[in-house]
Amino acid sequence: RPRVFSGIQPTADSFHLGNYLGALRHWVALQETHEAFYCVVDLHAITAGHDPKVLRQRSRVAAAQLFALGLDPERSTLFVQSQVPEHPQLAWVLGCITGFGEASRMTQFKDKSQKQGSDRSSVGLFTYPILQAADILLYQADAVPVGEDQRQHLELSRDLAQRFNSLFGKTFTVPAPHIVKDTAKITDLQEPTAKMSKSSSSPAGIIDLLEEPARTAKKIRSAVTDTGREIVFDAEGKPGIANLLTIYSALSGRDIDDLVAAYAGKGYGDLKKDLAEVVAEFVRPIQERTRGYLDDPAQLDKLLATGAEKARAVAGPTLRLAYERIGFFPPV
Ligand code: TYM
Repeated sequence: RPRVFSGIQPTADSFHLGNYLGALRHWVALQETHEAFYCVVDLHAITAGHDPKVLRQRSRVAAAQLFALGLDPERSTLFVQSQVPEHPQLAWVLGCITGFGEASRMTQFKDKSQKQGSDRSSVGLFTYPILQAADILLYQADAVPVGEDQRQHLELSRDLAQRFNSLFGKTFTVPAPHIVKDTAKITDLQEPTAKMSKSSSSPAGIIDLLEEPARTAKKIRSAVTDTGREIVFDAEGKPGIANLLTIYSALSGRDIDDLVAAYAGKGYGDLKKDLAEVVAEFVRPIQERTRGYLDDPAQLDKLLATGAEKARAVAGPTLRLAYERIGFFPPV
């Protein structure tokens, strides 16, 4: 079976619908056809400042949500990055074949460091995409399910795999992005041309999986829509309505065309009211199952420890091979 790898940061108290529709639903689907490795990337989560107690809890909540969304610990390997030391070990090596200019061109780094002020942003934020490449390459992943915002980072992962292979001999699989166009960029409800983002959207712009459905309904009601009153799918001209239709379609399984036909002659208010219900129906069982996992943190930690062992069984040999190719001493 081909392999998939992907990761998500535990930087908020809940994942949002952008995470789910852009990436996580593909994580769940791909475990049917692929050998799947998924990671809560807590090393990445300390690149912009954090609170230790909150971080550990958020990693648990992240894992609980992933299991609740349908990741099956029997079929997929889910683990927390800090329990697999091979990740930063390989990242060092890859950092030494990454150009300074190449890393400087990463747009997420440019955006985030600009926002924080370049004196205040960490070296970790700068080398972040190199660690991401290490994550992927350790598992010899063929495909990486992510949203559109990760495309450039994946391009770097591919470049580093190819560069290492040509410098030191074939070692890594060159991973392909798995980006499913229609939901690859879910946008902010308040700013429908920007992506829904835990770091830059206002709370009113984000739908969290774990929030109260009443709160979600209110956010959808006050979502920025477009002038005119006709419900049509026009991503350029009516990005607000297009975003709502995209979410509606993905969660309900109904085609956008079907929805547009069904709402002919109806108003934005009708669409928003129905979408709020669709979202509520969707999150209810997920919230319940997430609480179930969190009620037994010892059991959850055990599942994650087992995941980390399975991950190390793959990451360890890959790292040893890379070390040998590089000319390092063998492990003792
Ligand atoms: P992160 O934690 O920001 O986001 C997790 C996943 O959600 C996707 N996503 C979106 N998709 C559609 N619309 C949106 N508005 C939206 N917002 C987020 C992201 O594209 C991502 O797939 N650097 C990564 C984490 C990472 C990783 C990896 C990913 C670390 N190592 C290795 C893949 C492979 C990140 O910050 O994702």
